[in-house]
Amino acid sequence: MPLLLVRNKGLRSQGPAATRGHPDRASGGDVDRRPRVGTPRVGTRYEGRSLTKSFDGATVLSQVDITFAPGEVHSVVGENGAGKSTLLKIMAGIYQPDSGQLVLGEERVGGLSPRSAQQLGVYLVPQEPALMQSLSVTENLFVGILRRGRLHFNVDWRSMKQEASAYLDRVGLDVDPEVRAEELSIAQQQLVECARALVHRCTVIYFDEPTSPLTAKEAGTLFEVMKNLRADGYTLGFISHRLDEVLAISDRVTVLRDGKRVSTALRSEVEGPSLVKAMVGRELTGRERVRPPFDATGRKEMLAVEDLTSEPSFAGVSFSVREGEVLGLAGLVGSGRTEIAETIFGLRPSDRGTVRLEGRRLEHRSPRACIDAGLVYLPEDRARHGIFADVEVERNVTAGVIPHLARYGPLVKPVAERDLAKQATDRTGVRMASLDTLIKALSGGNQQRAMLSRWLLAAPKVAIFDEPTRGVDVGAKDDIYHLVAQLAEGGLACVFISSELSELAITCDRVIAMYEGHVVGELSGAEVTDANLGSLIVGAHTI
Ligand SMILES: Nc1ncnc2c1ncn2[C@@H]1O[C@H](COP(=O)(O)OP(=O)(O)OP(=O)(O)O)[C@@H](O)[C@H]1O
Ligand SMILES: [Mg+2]
Repeated sequence: MPLLLVRNKGLRSQGPAATRGHPDRASGGDVDRRPRVGTPRVGTRYEGRSLTKSFDGATVLSQVDITFAPGEVHSVVGENGAGKSTLLKIMAGIYQPDSGQLVLGEERVGGLSPRSAQQLGVYLVPQEPALMQSLSVTENLFVGILRRGRLHFNVDWRSMKQEASAYLDRVGLDVDPEVRAEELSIAQQQLVECARALVHRCTVIYFDEPTSPLTAKEAGTLFEVMKNLRADGYTLGFISHRLDEVLAISDRVTVLRDGKRVSTALRSEVEGPSLVKAMVGRELTGRERVRPPFDATGRKEMLAVEDLTSEPSFAGVSFSVREGEVLGLAGLVGSGRTEIAETIFGLRPSDRGTVRLEGRRLEHRSPRACIDAGLVYLPEDRARHGIFADVEVERNVTAGVIPHLARYGPLVKPVAERDLAKQATDRTGVRMASLDTLIKALSGGNQQRAMLSRWLLAAPKVAIFDEPTRGVDVGAKDDIYHLVAQLAEGGLACVFISSELSELAITCDRVIAMYEGHVVGELSGAEVTDANLGSLIVGAHTI
């Protein structure tokens, strides 16, 4: 008999979550030393009734009703800022609703904290993995529920490691449980989060945009894990901006728009176009190329990379980008695309090779020197490299140009700074209460737009965009494609890194494909199609 059922039942019959159980209930003691890789046969129905939430006077969720049922994947879709993450955070005890109720099984639960929600079996895999980077995988899995040994005051590392291996296996992750979280890729960290939910005996598991940093293959692995959990009766919630994924994995889909629930329907009752319309409130134009064919005649070479090498990530990489051209970099995760961008931008050293900007060699590169020379880089992992989380949007946006503003005197003119920030955020359509909002309070997609605004302000000649649409909703993706096209029209030389082949096909004039650190092919004009790119990036022609 799986232990989980007994424990959850026991807990549920004891009254409100906040008053329940000693925190150590799940740790130590004889009961918990039984084998833990078991399968709960039934999951739990979990319902939000009339949930309402405001931040600083702005209502971000309004009377939302939603039911997550066992054995189902229920997706929540909507534009950036629609309230999806807020809704799941309320379900998982991270935020408190201003009003409304949560009902788990037959019982109302209130005053949840993340910890008490976990004790009830509810877990949220967050939008950006939140593992403790310097701790091992095992330590991350068991934080808060360390197993005690026979003596009761010692920690039973041996059994935890064994269990960790078994759970990692269950989520299809082949890593050493001893390895530190920081050594794992984002995809692997995501799966560790999933294993963590299982270790914590949770049966209601939410995934907030788990696939946005993943390649199609990695996302496929995660979907297999989700399907297995669904078959075992788990209750699953899922957020994604990739509608093909939503349509492929969901049993039920809820659409949120501006904090309100627009619809909930069975998967069999919805199709792509109607879903997009419900989300965005308008029809989107087809996915065609966003700009006319590029004519290189008379266009100056802006960025020239020759034989750039940084072992073991990539070697012998050469390419150039002209004024007004959009060059795509295609490749699987691990093919070296981000490492190339980071090396060009002076974030990592090169073993050999040169980088020239407008014919001038950029030596001893550093990000500052690159920005001054007119080269900017919008990093893929905005949480780690780009954003100052506890600082206002305004300062985040103007961060790159403050030294230039200050040049005219010792002080930055506040009005000038605000004007600049306003122009830049208007251009990318950041949705926020005001420029004084802390950037961490923005939805994921709006943070991405704010970062784009920052780089626009630096008035670059060459820009490297690394997964610029990661976490951005369908409507905003189109806006970003048009923005890149518009910037190129204005003469900007763009390097566009993306895992979505279709977006490379509609934005790029030319694409070079990477495979395991080497350039394996180049396509231009009408040759740039999903299918051609797809066979290049898996190294098809080298087999
Ligand atoms: N902690 C917070 N403080 C203030 N405002 C917040 C906070 N968290 C979210 N918001 C606001 O609530 C709204 C909804 O945000 P939420 O993160 O739920 O959107 P989302 O649908 O998940 O969007 P995305 O697709 O961009 O991730 C946004 O306008 C956001 O700025
Ligand atoms: Mg979100």
